[in-house]
Amino acid sequence: MSKDRQKQQAAKAAADYVAANLEAGAILGVGTGSTVNLFIDTLMPLKEKLGGAVASSEATRQRLVNHGIPILDLNDIDRLAIYVDGADEIDHDFAMIKGGGGALTREKIIACASDTFVCIADAGKRVKRLGRFPLPVEVIPMASRLVAGQLAAMGGKPVLREGFVTDNGNFILDVADLAIHDSQALEADINQITGVVCNGLFAKRGADILLLGAENGVMTYLSSGATLRR
Ligand code: 5RP
Repeated sequence: MSKDRQKQQAAKAAADYVAANLEAGAILGVGTGSTVNLFIDTLMPLKEKLGGAVASSEATRQRLVNHGIPILDLNDIDRLAIYVDGADEIDHDFAMIKGGGGALTREKIIACASDTFVCIADAGKRVKRLGRFPLPVEVIPMASRLVAGQLAAMGGKPVLREGFVTDNGNFILDVADLAIHDSQALEADINQITGVVCNGLFAKRGADILLLGAENGVMTYLSSGATLRR
């Protein structure tokens, strides 16, 4: 099965999950990326059920608006029950690398404000160990060289993402070759570098449910404590 078809199936499974688990009128958190775009495109039948959505990027906000789904500001909401987003890599402990689309900071904020993080991805995203995908790090523009030096001292090979500015007006360094032995510790260490806004390790707050499009359909993986109503 093609990667696109796997993404499509994972997106459809997430829409089914939302239909079964989100209370009528509740607000949904929506991530960013090609898999999430497919998910948004399957939301039409749920439009009446949704109270609205909080978007993790301008691209997602625009796509939701095009589908007639009302957008809310996270500051107007206590908590979100469900957040649906993709990943660049996800390991067996549900820790992820995210930010391939450059929306990592808003994604992490919404993930933090959500009770259940549903990750949707194609089979190629599930890995034994994180780190093949270069780690995106959002930095304040004037600090990009300074931060790059510190990331290099940690063993990484940072490359400035050419011509890219985040929705927050910042730059992204894509850092290859980091040895990720303890993803939670590395996430915290990188956040300590002055000039870093956020990094794409989602280990402290990982996913709760993984809906993985695979050769023979969708595989569902639950982290300990996560439940699934179908
Ligand atoms: C965007 C992200 C995406 O979730 C990640 O890049 C996966 O994208 P795709 O679904 O296109 O493979 O973190 O910042």
